[in-house]
Amino acid sequence: MSKILITSALPYINGVPHLGHMVGCLLPSDVYARYMRMMGNEVLYICGTDEHGTASEVGALKEGLPVEDYCNKYHESHRKTYKDFNLSFDYFGRSSSEQNKEIVYHIFEHLDKNGFIAEKTMKQVYSVDDKMFLADRYITGTCPHCGYEKARGDQCENCTKILEPTDLINPRSTVSGSTNLEVRETKHLFLNLPKIEEKLTEWLKTKEAFWPDVAYSIAKKWVKEGLQPRCITRDLKWGFPVNKEGYENKVFYVWFDAPIAYIGITKQWSDESAERNWKDWWLDAKDVHYVEFMGKDNVPYHSITFPATLLGTGENWTKVDYLKGFSYLTYEGGKFSKSEHRGIFADDAIKEFPADYWRYWLMANAPEASDSSFSFESFAATVNKDLNGVLGNFAQRVMKMTASKLGSFVPQGGDMTEVDEEFIKTLQDRADDYFKYLNQLEFRKAINELRAIWVEGNNYITKTEPWTVIKEDEVRAATILRICLNTVRIYAALSAPLMPDTAEKIMKKFNLSTDDLPLLKDFSVSKEINALKAGTPFEAGEALFERITPEQLAEMQQKYGGQNV
Ligand code: 2FM
Ligand code: ZN
Repeated sequence: MSKILITSALPYINGVPHLGHMVGCLLPSDVYARYMRMMGNEVLYICGTDEHGTASEVGALKEGLPVEDYCNKYHESHRKTYKDFNLSFDYFGRSSSEQNKEIVYHIFEHLDKNGFIAEKTMKQVYSVDDKMFLADRYITGTCPHCGYEKARGDQCENCTKILEPTDLINPRSTVSGSTNLEVRETKHLFLNLPKIEEKLTEWLKTKEAFWPDVAYSIAKKWVKEGLQPRCITRDLKWGFPVNKEGYENKVFYVWFDAPIAYIGITKQWSDESAERNWKDWWLDAKDVHYVEFMGKDNVPYHSITFPATLLGTGENWTKVDYLKGFSYLTYEGGKFSKSEHRGIFADDAIKEFPADYWRYWLMANAPEASDSSFSFESFAATVNKDLNGVLGNFAQRVMKMTASKLGSFVPQGGDMTEVDEEFIKTLQDRADDYFKYLNQLEFRKAINELRAIWVEGNNYITKTEPWTVIKEDEVRAATILRICLNTVRIYAALSAPLMPDTAEKIMKKFNLSTDDLPLLKDFSVSKEINALKAGTPFEAGEALFERITPEQLAEMQQKYGGQNV
């Protein structure tokens, strides 16, 4: 048994996650965590809300709430959404926790002591009326290149040109609209990346053979282009106050404390039970394999700045062993936008259809190699074809047929024939490929394989025709149906990491629970095909999935802004 540490990038607290957030790190990390547990490993799966920064301050201001209350409110809303989607975190914590503060301070002190912190004075825009320095993206004005009037201080959304806030014509505060802005000098602390570069490059080299090419090349590109010192403090109120003399009125930058929160949240988990020790996972930890999930834009932070932060302490922190980055999911080819009522967000999604429908579509179409696009048309087609038509249909058909011809229990039947052995071999080969892809974190390929495994069941029953055979040879028909019923249970086991509710529903039909599922480690189809003994009762009950009708599809497109609107 290995120790597998899994983290999903911490979602920003402000706003409701949409489907792109779900598939951009949260769902894949859950599928992986569930799979790793079923492979018999000791898994610690950590996530939480990323709470600091201007976005939270501004969000709280808009809602008229103290920022702490605002964060409490949205932390609970995130927690609920992820529970509804069946994300199986061992702990869902908060980047603003006392535990994280303690670790951030510890790490900062070590970096400072080791000479990896630099001080620099810089110029920044100050809003006199808002009484705050404004982050670049909180300044709005007219783009000097294209004349777009709502360009942000960091980039013009219209012509995509990168801007400095001082480039903007008629600049104003996004927070209040005030034009009473001044450029003021302010002193900040920097993580001296050039000074850590040697250690970092040495460490990076050890990862080349293991990281996916995309992640490794992003990291290499950063190093090649020359590492710059990174500012790790901000002139804000909401954050951890900097624990250094002369910086008392400043806080750590959200991107400094957010990755450290993977550790801080583990400490939250650890503080809840005397039997847990966060250090067993993070500090001088032995035999921990650490896998990180994130959106592509987060890769530099996880492959460069966070490891450099940990290396600079001179302590032996667990660092990422495998890093899985995702591209973006669009909505019907465009952006998800709550304010423009475009696209379906996670809280609504779960009210419309069961979690497994979303889990399946999203993972089968995960933006792994490139961006992918969600459409209700594709969603409905996939649910109807793969889930209802293949998996659901097989389970229902087998159970109903057995019940009507032989009774609601697993029949005895007789010995297996060549065609049965062939089926078992095909299932085993495909299951082995499925495991291979999951081990490689190739989710789309894995799910393709899972779908093919379900198709094999339908092929087998079409080929063996138990409904015809039964007229002349009841024992043979019973053998076929016994195999099919056991195949349904095998499908529950193989599908469980992806569709935990469906696995549970299947097991319930046999009056069993998911605790009765076999481990996937050394999974043997020949063994599992005989697991349900003759006489085991079952109840066909309701279908596993329901078809999405054309009327429902049209309603969804209408409600969430689809192609036909
Ligand atoms: O991009 C984001 O959504 C960030 N909130 C991710 C932070 S990941 C980690 F560092 F916490
Ligand atoms: Zn522009």
